[in-house]
Amino acid sequence: MRVVRADEGDLPAITEIYNDAVLHTTATFDTEPRSIAEQSVWFAEHTGPYPVFAAKQSQGKLVGWASLSPWSARKAYSITAETSIYVADGFRQAGIGWQLMEEVMRFSFGEPRLHTLIARIAGDNQASVTLHKRAGFDLIGTMREVGYKFGRFVDVQLYQVILSRNRFGF
Ligand SMILES: CC(C)(COP(=O)(O)OP(=O)(O)OC[C@H]1O[C@@H](n2cnc3c(N)ncnc32)[C@H](O)[C@@H]1OP(=O)(O)O)[C@@H](O)C(=O)NCCC(=O)NCCS
Repeated sequence: MRVVRADEGDLPAITEIYNDAVLHTTATFDTEPRSIAEQSVWFAEHTGPYPVFAAKQSQGKLVGWASLSPWSARKAYSITAETSIYVADGFRQAGIGWQLMEEVMRFSFGEPRLHTLIARIAGDNQASVTLHKRAGFDLIGTMREVGYKFGRFVDVQLYQVILSRNRFGF
């Protein structure tokens, strides 16, 4: 397994993993699958301090991805990025999320334009909570019942890490 920078050719696999989460989980509050055209726009926006990473098996199969996105378009927030990490169903709980997180943290710590990362995690997403806490993210607040998906209200927990305090020793 290796984690590399994603390229345009990875978009079908990235989109398939994302859309599976859209349809079956509260990991994302999107409710409609995204098209490759929409994903191309999303990918084109991920430059500079906002990369997309891909976890690939030795034969090249993409089984997970991660990205950093702007937290807000307002200029003073530009030192803050938001994390996204998705591992394909069937490949979870095998350390791939952790490998992606490690690369996200390595990149972020070395990126002088970034100071802090934020993750928005649905209240019942124990896997993501564990992954982020282990990487040094702390719970900074809960937004109650801000989402409505699969016929129920969903809380969102906000997690944050100041990059100089990450658990990887970068
Ligand atoms: C969250 C996600 C990325 C984790 O990836 P993963 O490859 O399964 O995670 P790893 O195997 O690297 O495990 C990382 C840590 O999380 C823990 N973990 C993983 N799945 C877990 C689960 N279902 N319940 C509790 N803990 C879990 C692992 O035990 C490990 O912690 P540990 O080292 O202390 O034991 C993956 O479950 C996923 O893609 N879920 C759907 C999309 C999603 O929720 N993305 C996050 C949006 S905020």
